[in-house]
Amino acid sequence: MVKICCIGAGYVGGPTMAVIALKCPKIEVVVVDISVPRINAWNSDQLPIYEPGLEDVVKQCRGKNLFFSTDVEKHVSEADIVFVSVNTPTKTRGLGAGKAADLTYWESAARMIADVSKSDKIVVEKSTVPVKTAEAIEKILTHNSKGINFQILSNPEFLAEGTAIKDLFKPDRVLIGGRETPEGFKAVKALKDVYAHWVPEENIITTNLWSAELSKLAANAFLAQRISSVNAMSALCEATGADVSQVSYAVGTDSRIGPKFLNASVGFGGSCFQKDILNLVYICECNGLPEVAEYWKQVIKINDYQKNRFVNRVVASMFNTVANKKVAILGFAFKKDTGDTRETPAIDVCKGLLGDKAQLSIYDPQVTEDQIQRDLTMNKFDWDHPLHLQPMSPSTVKQVSVVWDAYKATKDAHAVCILTEWDEFKTLDFQKIYDNMQKPAFIFDGRNVINLDKLREIGFIVYSIGKPLDAWLKDMPAVA
Ligand code: NAI
Repeated sequence: MVKICCIGAGYVGGPTMAVIALKCPKIEVVVVDISVPRINAWNSDQLPIYEPGLEDVVKQCRGKNLFFSTDVEKHVSEADIVFVSVNTPTKTRGLGAGKAADLTYWESAARMIADVSKSDKIVVEKSTVPVKTAEAIEKILTHNSKGINFQILSNPEFLAEGTAIKDLFKPDRVLIGGRETPEGFKAVKALKDVYAHWVPEENIITTNLWSAELSKLAANAFLAQRISSVNAMSALCEATGADVSQVSYAVGTDSRIGPKFLNASVGFGGSCFQKDILNLVYICECNGLPEVAEYWKQVIKINDYQKNRFVNRVVASMFNTVANKKVAILGFAFKKDTGDTRETPAIDVCKGLLGDKAQLSIYDPQVTEDQIQRDLTMNKFDWDHPLHLQPMSPSTVKQVSVVWDAYKATKDAHAVCILTEWDEFKTLDFQKIYDNMQKPAFIFDGRNVINLDKLREIGFIVYSIGKPLDAWLKDMPAVA
């Protein structure tokens, strides 16, 4: 029986391995992690991450051919294929601080694999890493190999949170990069055979190592670029009276462009886009390509601009101050159908409003109070380290209360900001919300989910990104 071990039981390692176990009943899959609470949660009824369909998959194979364990060394030493899916945060100090990927966790995983291995292994990069990481890892492994043969493969993960199980069941493509040597080809084939249990062969792309590593960074940069492009257009729409939804529909129907990832919003978030683009920028700079670096940096700058613009719009509309005013925040996760708050635009928007002394009442169906308080007090990039290495929430932000109901959050509020596109926000009783708010009552929709006309009829002053402005807002321009 082929044995797979995956180091890192996070948003990628957990769901990916659960699907491999489900689709390959004859393969034993063990997911290991240094975080005891995380592994305990994977072994309980309350999984550590929320992802539609995940619980069902885990329940079908946990205890049969899917296991979660903290005994990292034992399972690595027994495995034929070792996936590495650990954190790869942005460096906060030293060379490349603020841009380069911090490979501390990856390197320590590689050294451990070298130390405990007693048989040949295929080591698979699942984490997103800088180009040429495989070469460094290869050096660590082969210098300690005691005659053991290690083949390194790059198999970047393209799942999107919120649709991870759907994406894993039917991936657009699986990408496997390996050395172009007979041993390399053999290793690529072994991994291909795993995916071939459920992915059609034509959807499994094989490349050299560096192409696979760079393709992942490039794919995220292209996706984020589309969001920044449409967000840049949204500012121009507001200035001219065009409607960004109409513009993006008209643009997206061009089959060369396509309709996906063209929704204007308060900005992109998630653990990957910013980190991976910063990483790409750093790689360009290191390779003497400052113009290319500058080009990609602009994608992040527009994202920051969009978040600032939203905050300025809120403050400017409300007579240039939100001091001591209750502002309801609906949605804190970086997108719907996930509880993940890593790099969510809600953090910057909330911090901006708190900077103007607002009182925030936050509701998100999947995010806990503890997580929100941690996010609002944590330093930049601290979130991307294993849980037990993150600073404990040292203090709480007193102007923030977290509630479990949208109606409670909006009661007596001066304004509502919608920051995540949760479906349930579309069906709220906005008349009831309006009746219980201070007047004038404002709604700032950062995700374009509400029906503008209906809300205006009720009496709200409404702002929706990239849409023609209310007369009220026109008189109160907000320049970022
Ligand atoms: P995560 O933070 O949820 O999980 C990483 C896990 O690795 C943590 O549970 C941590 O405790 C564990 N870990 C760290 N060092 C370890 C070690 N030496 N031994 C054992 N366990 C260790 O991170 P996530 O989101 O799963 O991301 C992992 C990688 O996958 C990152 O490189 C990320 O860029 C990439 N990725 C993430 C995607 C996403 O949607 N979250 C999508 C595609 C790629």
